Parts: sequence; structure tokens; C-alpha cells
Amino acid sequence: LIEDIIAREILDSRGNPTVEVEVYLSNGQHARAAVPSGASTGSKEAVELRDGDKHRFGGKGVLQVVQHIEEIIAPDLQDLDVRDQKAIDDTLIGLDGTENKAKLGANALLGVSMACARAAADYCDLPLYAYLGGPGATRLPVPCFNVLNGGVHAHWQGADFQECMLVPYGAASFREALRWGAEIYHALQSILLEKHLSVGVGDEGGFAPAVKSNHESYDLLVDAIRRAGFEPGRDCGIAIDPASSEFFKEGKYQLHTENRALSSAEMVDYYAEIVANYPVVLLEDGLAEDDWESWKLLNEKLGGSIELVGDDIFCTNPKIIAKAIEDNIANSTLIKLNQIGTVSETIAATRMAQFHGWGAFVSHRSGETTDDFIADLTVALDTGHLKSGAPARGERVAKYNQLLRIEEELGTAATYAGKQAFVRGVR
Ligand code: PGA
Ligand code: ZN
Repeated sequence: LIEDIIAREILDSRGNPTVEVEVYLSNGQHARAAVPSGASTGSKEAVELRDGDKHRFGGKGVLQVVQHIEEIIAPDLQDLDVRDQKAIDDTLIGLDGTENKAKLGANALLGVSMACARAAADYCDLPLYAYLGGPGATRLPVPCFNVLNGGVHAHWQGADFQECMLVPYGAASFREALRWGAEIYHALQSILLEKHLSVGVGDEGGFAPAVKSNHESYDLLVDAIRRAGFEPGRDCGIAIDPASSEFFKEGKYQLHTENRALSSAEMVDYYAEIVANYPVVLLEDGLAEDDWESWKLLNEKLGGSIELVGDDIFCTNPKIIAKAIEDNIANSTLIKLNQIGTVSETIAATRMAQFHGWGAFVSHRSGETTDDFIADLTVALDTGHLKSGAPARGERVAKYNQLLRIEEELGTAATYAGKQAFVRGVR
């Protein structure tokens, strides 16, 4: 039974405050969880509540959230069975009472929801992935390493496109994929140094060179894959998250690095050309969240050959994903716990996508902590792929290193998802 819940304000990877929660059980066990925070957020995300007191952390403090957890949530969850995640999450949603979790804050709800799941797993003496996913949760995901950071994650000093990812699907195991990722990351670093480009990194640990076009980013990736001794396309592919809502202004996509603005249809052609020339397997947020109708065109042109993921446009929201499936505008959804605010709703969003043959791509946020919850979540939900930034920086590798431990623990039962994890069309 849940005995007590406490919370505190800690720092995230960008030096901004976030909330950490501890759940204490009546048998003396306890578990902890911390909440991440995005920068390129979708407008329909559950509300991340901040104090707004400009004298503390520029208004970003979360003391109110801490208070909500300790004074409103904790008394209500007291004596509930910690294994009843649905009842816990329903209570949280009921206590908040708003559609977008604006009253108590999605950061308050999520911290409690995650810590309870972890406490329940400990109570059942199961690893979190097995507690959430059952005995069939044995498939390790393909890690998508964001090695080139741009857009808002590099304060527009680098490429327009926010993320260029390495996808080592050809490896035989997760462990091998992680090694390949690190080796290619270092090869990329040496190429950048040779070209006198910056090797400073962005929010997710990837390099943020001032490239002259978005294509240059893919050339750099292909060169790095080769330099490290791998074959682009066979061993390692590329995934892209332009986070295009960030540069969609007045109905056009404003490509700053190339000094031109494209219409939605031109943008689709732009991607088609990239897909034709580079080993791209996944495109996330290729079009903006306010450009729903054009997503249909994107899906018509590219949905049969690559995975098209919606992030800002779906916000891990089962209701929006249901509409997207009905309208057939993509074939995959990003999964971010804090976009929706509870573990149960995150699982529901994933299951809905998978039930319709869609992909579900588990993701960290650009503002992270060393909490590794999503590593277990991706195995539990058998999503086959996740993104957690570069194979560098503590808060990024915390997730990858936890996946190494999971693979080791599963032993011969472990499998590696490989290229088939990437959805094309509808299965
Ligand atoms: P965010 O970026 O965490 O800043 O929202 C991640 C993404 O767009 O996928
Ligand atoms: Zn995204």
C-alpha cells in the first residue's frame, strides 16, 4: 500500500528545475522518478506547470508542483494498492479534473505515476520492463542516435532540422548497436574537426555544426558511417526529425540555412528527394502540427517506403492518434510520457497505434534527467525502436546503458528488433 509521497525540485540537463518524486510503501520499500521537459513542444501537450516567479529560475521553478504532489495528491493516494496503476492514474486524472492537466500540472501527475509503477515493480520483485510488459517483453529496440542537433536544440546556430539520427539496425544485438553508434559518433567528430566545423554539442548531445544546407548533414552522416567501417543502408540508416512546426511560419516552411521558403507540397518533394538519395528509414514531424491536410499528401508519397512519425501533431494523445489513424495521415506516433501525463495513458496511446499496425517510437525529451524509465518502457511495450539522443552525455546514455543491463539480464531470451521495427505503409 502507498504510505507517503514526497517531491522535490531538482535540475534537468539544461539547468532548469524539474520535479522528482519518491513513493514510500507500507512495507518500507520506496521508489523514485523524475520528469523530463521539452523545448520544441506541441501545442496540445499536457500542461507542464511552472511557478512563474521571475525571481526564481527565471519563472521556471516547480515549487507549486511539489506542493500539489505533497498536499493534494499524496493524501488521496494513501492506502491505495500500488499495483493498481489504472486506479492510481484515474485518481490523478480525477484530482486534476482538466482536459490538459493544467490544474495540478502534468509534471506533478507524471512524476507520481512513474514512481508508483516503479514501486509496484519493486514490490512484485520484477524488473520494470517485466512488470509493465509481462514475460513476453524480450525484444530490445533499435537505438536512434541523434548525432547532429539543429533548430531550437542548437539555438538556430546549426541546421534548420532539429535531429539527424543514426539508426544501426544491422547490428546483431543492442550491445553491438550501441558500440556502432559510439564509433560512428566519434568518426563524425573527426570529420567535423577536419572540416574546421564546430564540435560543440546541442541539447541532446549531438554536434551542432553550422552547415550550409540540410543536405550537408546527411552527407556528413554517410561519410561518418563509412569512416567507422560500416555500410550506409545495409548496416546503418538515417532518421530525421526536422521538428518542422518550429519553422512553419505564414503557411510556409522557412529554411533559414538555405535562405528559402517552401510550400507544403514543395516540402514533401524536398523530403522525397532526400529519401531517394540517402538511406532514410524514418521521418518525424516532416510537416507542421497546423498542416494536418498536407500530412495526407506526405503519407501518400512516402508512407509506403518509410516510417512517418507524428510528434508535435499527436502529442501522445490517444484521441488525436485515433483521428490520425482514421484520416490515414501517417503510419507511426512518437511516444513521450510527459506529453500526456500518466503511464496508463502512455500505454493506451502505444497500444492503439500498434493495434492498427502503426509504429510507436518511444522518445526522451530535450530536457532530461538520469531517470531511465523509458528504457524499460520501450522493452515492455515492444516498440522496437527508441530515441534518447547521442551516444554521449549522462542523461542520454542513462537510457542506453539501462538497455544494456536489460539485454544482459534477459540473456538468450533477448532479441534485437533490427530493420523490421521500422513501419512502412500499414502492416
Ligand atoms: P523536445 O524535442 O523534447 O524539445 O520536444 C524532442 C522532439 O521533438 O522529438
Ligand atoms: Zn520530435
